[in-house]
Amino acid sequence: MIYAAFRSIGAYIPPKIMSNADFEKIIDTSDEWITKRTGIKERRIANEGEASSDLGARAGELAIERAAISKEEIDLVICATVTPDFLCMPSTACLIAAKLGLSNVMAFDVSAACTGFVYALNVAKAFIESGMKKNVLIVGAEKYSAILDYTDRTTCFLFGDGAGAAIISATNDKSESIIDINCSSDGNYEDLIKTPGGGSKNPCSQEVLENKMACIKMKGNETFKLAVKTLTSDVKTMLEKHNLTNEDINHFIPHQANYRIIKAVGEALDLSDEKTVVTVDKYGNTSAASIPMAMNYAFEQGKIKAGDTILFDAFGGGLTWGSALFKF
Ligand code: ACO
Repeated sequence: MIYAAFRSIGAYIPPKIMSNADFEKIIDTSDEWITKRTGIKERRIANEGEASSDLGARAGELAIERAAISKEEIDLVICATVTPDFLCMPSTACLIAAKLGLSNVMAFDVSAACTGFVYALNVAKAFIESGMKKNVLIVGAEKYSAILDYTDRTTCFLFGDGAGAAIISATNDKSESIIDINCSSDGNYEDLIKTPGGGSKNPCSQEVLENKMACIKMKGNETFKLAVKTLTSDVKTMLEKHNLTNEDINHFIPHQANYRIIKAVGEALDLSDEKTVVTVDKYGNTSAASIPMAMNYAFEQGKIKAGDTILFDAFGGGLTWGSALFKF
């Protein structure tokens, strides 16, 4: 029997910081309001000219180094992103592979907004368990600053740029394998979080540009309520299915959208603050990159050790949601 094991984690955190004080200069807001409503204090912004593939390749490089495998051993690259370098082609995964010096490898993107990394993990697991691939590089890479309307005070302060990556490898040892992943969606909620223009529905036009329709639009309050409900029930279902309690989890790594969402889910599940990884104060919401960036942060802080049981929980545009339970 072949199992999939989560081998390593890496991230790239762009050095440029945009603080809440910087937003006070461009929109009608305050550090106090943003901190109270979201817990966000600052976020990272990629350099001009840098694209998601540049951030993703850097994160991938670190994940490969930490997995102690050679690049030649990677036989699949998956990139989760909704801010691809190019709208249609080539995929960001192809560009990341090329930047890593991999020119003869299967590579494709996964689009599931903030749940993208959990979706990519699920796809990697399926490829490995089927015996088709042995070492998969999964990347969550986002340059949200490219799709934000910096005059829209209801969205622009929430998001940031960055990337995280992991190596998922085949193993015969069940005790070190990914235990379970659940991914789901409901497209009936398409209007809650959307970039309405620039795709085949509303192709790029003067109207799309003038109305900033290629930028993110979000019904924040409705999304907030659904996020708390879905994330909580998703974790409960996962734990019950495997006869586990929150005592069995060493690290809960939720999608980093809003500290109030993380807190509400943690309280509903009776998860202690020590077990919950929080980086939303430092990086804001980096969508598909948020979970691997948070895991990398906890790893570099020395909190995550080999053999720990980790639970991911994500929610995002689509709507999409998903959770993953694994040993590190
Ligand atoms: N500064 C100051 N005031 C503001 C700002 C701002 N930046 N933005 C909105 N307000 C005002 C509103 O105009 C409103 O004023 P009013 O009462 O006079 O009408 C008031 O603040 C409250 O607005 P709400 O939208 O109700 O604020 P809420 O408490 O819901 O917080 C927020 C907004 C932070 C966006 C929250 O709803 C949220 O985090 N939602 C979830 C987002 C999320 O989880 N997304 C998930 C995935 S994202 C993805 O997939 C890409």
